[in-house]
Amino acid sequence: MIVPTADLVKVGYGRFAVGAYNINNMEQALGLFRGGRQAQAPLIIQISKGARKYAGVKMLEAILRAAEEMYPEVIFAVHLDHGDEATCYDCIDSGFYSSVMIDASHEPFEKNVEITRRVVERAHAKGVSVEAELGMLGGVEEDVRVDEKHALLTDPDQAAEFVQRTGCDLLAVAIGTSHGAYKFKGRQTLHLARLAEIQQRLPGFPLVMHGASSVPREEVERINAAGGGLDPSARGVDENEFARAVPRGVTKVNIDTDARLVWYRVHREHLRDHPEVFDFRKPGELYIQAYADLIAHKSTRLGCAGRLPEVRAALGKDGPR
Ligand code: G3H
Ligand code: 13P
Ligand code: ZN
Repeated sequence: MIVPTADLVKVGYGRFAVGAYNINNMEQALGLFRGGRQAQAPLIIQISKGARKYAGVKMLEAILRAAEEMYPEVIFAVHLDHGDEATCYDCIDSGFYSSVMIDASHEPFEKNVEITRRVVERAHAKGVSVEAELGMLGGVEEDVRVDEKHALLTDPDQAAEFVQRTGCDLLAVAIGTSHGAYKFKGRQTLHLARLAEIQQRLPGFPLVMHGASSVPREEVERINAAGGGLDPSARGVDENEFARAVPRGVTKVNIDTDARLVWYRVHREHLRDHPEVFDFRKPGELYIQAYADLIAHKSTRLGCAGRLPEVRAALGKDGPR
């Protein structure tokens, strides 16, 4: 069942976060929904501009509509990940998306406010929620001077002003994470004190953590042992940090790299170990279950496993389906 993103993330504010996972194909859809059912966890399913180009807008919608029928008990939102203004409008007008992300974080503050405000007006008129971003993700290196380092993080005062002026429903904050497999060097970790300051200025407001993959060392090692060439120093977010970020207002946690690692591990190992096989459904089946297991695991770490009854009741979806 597709539900509004803003309503979904508010259910667990301060107690649990909902995992937001990118989708590109049918195998990922089956893994996601099987994982959601396995864990009894709500999901946010994200579609990037790259996914729309790769699979086709119609194909992704058809896949998700089919998955919704196959897994009627799973509660999920459909979200545009890192959209530009034109793509946001396309998604809003389609009537299929629960929410869009307008990513104008690379623009100066005033321009970011202006663009986000325009998208919010169009989205809210159609009942679509809007995630916006403030601050700059990534590139926070240990050897960067403190002033420079903090300049990349979301400024708490600006965050409060931004939300008030744009009317956005969720805010992606830069607290030290970055996209991809190479997030941290040395002893770096999340900037939880900065997150707490943002929460103080925006009490009860849903915050979003991008770049939240944990990049498990074992996955990287297995991929490399099966012919991959990943940098073994790849490092992600410590999953123990989720339990510290959630009470500080993080309600949506974006994970894509870990899903890609599972795909590569399963397929590389299968091709290495079964050179005689040419039925691609064999590694496909393994991948779907491995991805479902990853979703179940993440849901447990985010605290949203087992929450479907609570979410269903909070959203008034207890009636006949
Ligand atoms: O943040 C981006 C996600 O990892 C999606 O990646 O744009 O290559 O589909 P993509
Ligand atoms: P990762 O690269 O850490 O998986 O982050 C994904 C993301 O933020 C998608 O918007
Ligand atoms: Zn992101």
